[in-house]
Amino acid sequence: MKKTISVLLVAVLLFSLAACGSASQTQPASQQTQESVAETAHPEPAADAGTEQQTAADAEASEKSGSNILVLYFSRTGEQYNVGVIEKGNTAIVAEMIGEATGADLYEILPADDHYPMTYKELTDVALQEQRDGARPAYAGELPAFESYDTIFIGAPVWWGDWPMILYTVFESTPLSGKTLIPFSTHAGSGLSGFDRSLAAAYPDCTVAKGLAIAGTDAQNNPDKVQTSVANWLSELGF
Ligand SMILES: Cc1cc2nc3c(=O)[nH]c(=O)nc-3n(C[C@H](O)[C@H](O)[C@H](O)COP(=O)(O)O)c2cc1C
Repeated sequence: MKKTISVLLVAVLLFSLAACGSASQTQPASQQTQESVAETAHPEPAADAGTEQQTAADAEASEKSGSNILVLYFSRTGEQYNVGVIEKGNTAIVAEMIGEATGADLYEILPADDHYPMTYKELTDVALQEQRDGARPAYAGELPAFESYDTIFIGAPVWWGDWPMILYTVFESTPLSGKTLIPFSTHAGSGLSGFDRSLAAAYPDCTVAKGLAIAGTDAQNNPDKVQTSVANWLSELGF
């Protein structure tokens, strides 16, 4: 029901944006919800974001602590919504907080062929096209050995009201059963945006625990507030 309402909201907002004929037509419509009303102007596109994504080799060298908890996440640097050009992705910041609090291993999902633009508007265009095409962008390298983990936190930015398509590539190529999966998002107003429901649909043999949604602007600019939200959530989950 929530998903239906979100989809309707997105459709209405897309229609009104189209009617305005402005350059923000391709801005994810769900960003036009409560948070963006309170936010200031959309950031100016940067000519050159100048920030490279972590390499696959770096990702493979992610810390291995022997923990049975994994934080698997996708996140982008470069120009992001309402935070300008960032050097650490919003979701990456939250992922690291979860890792620190739980002693989990961290693994960043990276695209095999990094075709994602470092400027916000161009990135939204590419992501929208991928969603419309039902694309399954390839990820770089080998994912971790999931049998070592009982609990997997899975986090990503909300892209057009859903997981970025690369997460579906991961879900579809990674059979998991009997594990506890815990979704988290960063977003610009859409909250968890059904991440929990789509995760449960992808993994009917797993338990999907209560997720956490963090505003991307808070992750970037208000880490103390986010730290408290993460700590409270983890404590509710029994960590
Ligand atoms: C392609 C794209 C689509 C987005 N779509 C939405 C959306 O539908 N709803 C929303 O609340 N935020 C949306 N956002 C904002 C991001 O979810 C938010 O900025 C997030 O914190 C970025 O995290 P990251 O730095 O880890 O990539 C979108 C951002 C991008 C780049």
